[in-house]
Amino acid sequence: MKNITVLGAGVMGHGAAQLFAQAGKNVRIRARRESSLEEAKERMTNSLKIMVEKNMLTQSDMEQALDRITYTTDLHEAIQDADFIFESIPEVLEKKLDTYEIIESTVSDKTIISSNTSTFPLKELTQKAKNPERFIITHFFNPPQLVPIVEIVKVENTKDNVVQSTYDLMKEIGKSPVVLKKEITGFIVNRVQVAMLREAFHLMEMGVATAEDIDIAMKGSLGFKWAFCGPMESQDLAGLQTTKAMVGNILQDLSNTREVPSFLTEMVENDQLGIRTNEGFYKYDDNGEKAIHTRDDHFLDLLKLLQQKAENNKDKVSSTK
Ligand SMILES: NC(=O)c1ccc[n+]([C@@H]2O[C@H](COP(=O)([O-])OP(=O)(O)OC[C@H]3O[C@@H](n4cnc5c(N)ncnc54)[C@H](O)[C@@H]3O)[C@@H](O)[C@H]2O)c1
Repeated sequence: MKNITVLGAGVMGHGAAQLFAQAGKNVRIRARRESSLEEAKERMTNSLKIMVEKNMLTQSDMEQALDRITYTTDLHEAIQDADFIFESIPEVLEKKLDTYEIIESTVSDKTIISSNTSTFPLKELTQKAKNPERFIITHFFNPPQLVPIVEIVKVENTKDNVVQSTYDLMKEIGKSPVVLKKEITGFIVNRVQVAMLREAFHLMEMGVATAEDIDIAMKGSLGFKWAFCGPMESQDLAGLQTTKAMVGNILQDLSNTREVPSFLTEMVENDQLGIRTNEGFYKYDDNGEKAIHTRDDHFLDLLKLLQQKAENNKDKVSSTK
């Protein structure tokens, strides 16, 4: 697949477009406003510049990647000749359905249509589709150009070659795709994340720990381990008899609420939205610019380390053959 179209140039769209371009694809990115496209171009350029500074790319890699991206506000122009469309417009069902209708009436039957939706089941996204079997979900994580995982979600009638081509494309752009065996709300990562957040919020509400202490505890424990040793693997290393005792002793005491905690609702009502309003669990004075910069700097270092380890393991496999 050579021609990739990214619809939406926001938080997720620009990062995905950058990745496709870095992997040598011809990328068209479409937003409704010129200003969104200009902003996306600036964000991609800045992100690539940092990768050059960290010796993850050469200056020429960066220039070639930027040259492979074309920008348009015209939807028809954006999607014509596309082999793969990555839809990353806002999470509003009607907007997505209207967009798919135009896509399906314009592109060839072979074009794969993927959505970056975080919440809509594929059945809902394809409710008006003429050819639902070529739709698929490719769920990236923010910032998409740095976080390795992509969850791929299919349903019974998704064509096997659509799943395989999507999987191969995600590998080609350097991602670690996981194909869910069946569709479920929240997919894998957000289900585990919400289960964990429920307990973190519960600990705060009970006065066991502050938000900052919870962050310190998690960064220095599970956060430290999980980039290299996932939760299941960690149990094997600890011993499953210990896991059984820990789960058995603690599970009964955990929160099992099905309600959003009232403190969170109050924070949102009081415009404490995080970096957007300079106040969330922490205070900011620059709409989180420093926090985002520090986060991306650390994520790039981690990504570099992960890539080096993957490269070393590749060598090991081939040298034992
Ligand atoms: N932000 C995240 O952390 C995150 C993570 C994973 C998945 N997602 C999903 O990715 C998708 C995009 O999210 P985002 O955070 O990048 O949103 P965003 O608001 O940052 O960007 C959306 C883009 O779509 C454009 N747009 C708005 N209305 C449109 C329309 N009717 N037609 C075409 N384009 C339109 C906007 O101009 C903007 O460029 C959503 O489905 C979201 O659920 C977001």
